[in-house]
Amino acid sequence: MPVTDPVLTKRIPTWPWGDPKDRHIVTYDEFTKTGGYQALEKALDMTPAEVVDVVKDSQLRGRGGAGFPCGLKWTFLPEVDGGRRYLAVNCDEAEPGTFKDRLLIDFDPHIILEGIAITCYACHLDTAYFFIRGEYRHQARVVENAITEAYDKGIFGKQGLMCGKSKYAVECYLHRSAGAYICGEETGLLEAIEGKRAWPRIKPPFPAVKGLFGRPTIVNNVETLAAVGPILTNGVQWWTKMGCESSIGAPPSYGPKLMGVSGHVTTPGVFECDLGIPLSKLVNDFAGGMRGGKKFKGAIAGGVSMGILGPDQFDAEMDFDIGRKYDVLGLGTACPTIFDEDTDMVAVARNIARFFKNESCGQCTPCREGTQWIYMLLCRIEKGYATSKDLDLLLEISGSMGIMPGTTICGLADGNNWAVRTIVNKYRDEFEARIRPSSVPVGMTVGAS
Ligand SMILES: Cc1cc2nc3c(=O)[nH]c(=O)nc-3n(C[C@H](O)[C@H](O)[C@H](O)COP(=O)(O)O)c2cc1C
Ligand code: SF4
Repeated sequence: MPVTDPVLTKRIPTWPWGDPKDRHIVTYDEFTKTGGYQALEKALDMTPAEVVDVVKDSQLRGRGGAGFPCGLKWTFLPEVDGGRRYLAVNCDEAEPGTFKDRLLIDFDPHIILEGIAITCYACHLDTAYFFIRGEYRHQARVVENAITEAYDKGIFGKQGLMCGKSKYAVECYLHRSAGAYICGEETGLLEAIEGKRAWPRIKPPFPAVKGLFGRPTIVNNVETLAAVGPILTNGVQWWTKMGCESSIGAPPSYGPKLMGVSGHVTTPGVFECDLGIPLSKLVNDFAGGMRGGKKFKGAIAGGVSMGILGPDQFDAEMDFDIGRKYDVLGLGTACPTIFDEDTDMVAVARNIARFFKNESCGQCTPCREGTQWIYMLLCRIEKGYATSKDLDLLLEISGSMGIMPGTTICGLADGNNWAVRTIVNKYRDEFEARIRPSSVPVGMTVGAS
């Protein structure tokens, strides 16, 4: 599996392509000197529908977690009716272990702004909100400065895109999140931009039809938007040579992907790799191998909500088929957290459950109550107080909440469910070793560490 020449990170010197000491924020001038904003220029020579077709043909899939085809999403917008239409740029990035969007913002914000401008032109969107995670204070300043530069240079603003080359005018605003995981869910994000509590909305209607302030809205992840410019510049054939076809007859996983590796590896970091790279290669060739030469025990697939890859799944290909092939929810953000042989998987499950019960917005009873119960049961199991009935109850609760069983509004509950269920299923012996036989009174721990 060849590693591509960097596409998204080509201006960011980062190991193994350059010395991290050379990193700096790429300014507008530096960006344009290295081919920046040429894709926008090219787009403006095309009709909006032609730009949408290029993105559709590239089969670019969303990089925010769900892998939904980007061009297809754009076609869900209704006809232009003269009213406002919005782009919501999702840079909430609150998924534990995920820090890939941050790399682009830290060092090359204009690659995202160019994608925003092209997307707005292609989809007839007049206003973009760059929604950034509340904790990203420094990054918010970087984006703010880059937006100001883009206005000064005539990219955005009343005169029309690219100093009036197009009459189409786009305004771009930065919006800082108040700070909650649920703000990253697309409809929670829309509520937050509207100044409300980030409670996800029932879908349909989908944002493309009724989004921000009741108007058509496209929600795209930062990395997805950053890919739009390079696709337009270099063409569909160039894009589809990177990444991989599906091995199970599903849609392909084309293009490079930012993969953030954390956990028990020697050199954690964000690496740009072809989709389809085996996890073992990502860890060994890019992240310096397992820390201290320890054995691989498992990995969160791509954000904790995706579930866990077991000890025998180290060679899993990091592409959009991963969910169907390895019993996880999906590729998610493609940012795996690696666990070595010494990791206590019961503690991992309990820690993840704690996150989800804290972050549930509380609208749906199965999620609000279920996440709390799952956490309490895992605490009991970890302490050695639980019986086998508790383990069964844990699996029953986690199987009964989420969009998939159809009991919740959003996917946060599914995330908790998949994380817990896959950890219990793949490391069941560790859970059973903590179980107290019903003949042993509470307080006496059996097999508990
Ligand atoms: C609980 C939850 C949290 C999410 N957090 C994020 C996030 O932080 N960033 C993101 O891009 N997408 C996040 N998503 C996915 C978004 O809802 C949406 O699918 C995505 O922003 C669409 O962009 P894309 O098609 O470019 O991937 C989250 C989804 C859920 C259910
Ligand atoms: S599933 Fe959970 S986080 Fe999502 S809307 Fe319902 S209560 Fe809120």
